[in-house]
Amino acid sequence: MSWMKRGACIAGLVALVLAGGAGAAGGQISLLEAKVELGDRASLQRGAKLFVNYCAGCHSAQFVRYSRMGRDLGLSEEQVRANLMFASDKPGDPILATLGAEDANAWFGVPPPDLSLTSRARGPDWIYTYLMTFYRDEDRPFGANNLVFPDVAMPHALVDLQGVQARKENAGDDGHAAPTGAGDLLELVEPGSMSVAEYRRAVRDLVNFMVYIGEPAKLDRYVIGGWVLLFLLVFFVIARLLYKEYWKDVH
Ligand code: HEC
Repeated sequence: MSWMKRGACIAGLVALVLAGGAGAAGGQISLLEAKVELGDRASLQRGAKLFVNYCAGCHSAQFVRYSRMGRDLGLSEEQVRANLMFASDKPGDPILATLGAEDANAWFGVPPPDLSLTSRARGPDWIYTYLMTFYRDEDRPFGANNLVFPDVAMPHALVDLQGVQARKENAGDDGHAAPTGAGDLLELVEPGSMSVAEYRRAVRDLVNFMVYIGEPAKLDRYVIGGWVLLFLLVFFVIARLLYKEYWKDVH
């Protein structure tokens, strides 16, 4: 390959990567910043409570067991039992959705995904923006739409806390106006039980918790990775010894 062709290839690859990055960032809308603080235990505890009360009805977090979550968040077993677990759960259980997969499919047309790894796949800022930008849309089955997840099948689970948002008149309906901060496109038309500042904090806590639950799974993968490397090392030694053994009489 000539150097010019190679140069063109590299330029093409760079363009692809850049385009992919822009797409992942949420298209036309710039994401809000979650500014989560993984070391903030009080925030993680509040986030866990919100998650269990408002999300675990539909979503599982199957890599997280209550017992481990209690330990990591600095809660006693009684506190976890009283605040975070459903009556039928045991401390060693993972967080499973109360809604069955079949019902979920019938109601939403798609099963609510497990949220264990969502913070890693989507990033904290995306989830934060997602939970901030539900808005009223009578054309949708649950009367709500979302700026970063157009035509989402999920109802606005936190509408009682946030209140109802609507698109601003001049914001344009196609969503293809000049790149705009997600917060600029919506306005609160019916207040919820929380003030705007309280709701922001609640969502930040929730996202913080989701970042945390992405971590134990990451640690599990590290452990498995360690075993794989150890296996390869042992296997290499055996292979080496065999090799020597086989070849020592030849020559
Ligand atoms: C009534 C059921 C229900 C509740 C309650 C609910 N969700 Fe969902 N959620 C869904 C469904 C269904 C989808 C799939 C949407 C789609 O694919 O269009 C979804 C999708 C999502 C996604 C996008 C996942 C992805 O990567 O595509 C996130 C993030 C999410 N939910 C977070 C939450 C959080 C946080 C809560 C609690 C505040 C919550 N959900 C409460 C039903 C629910």
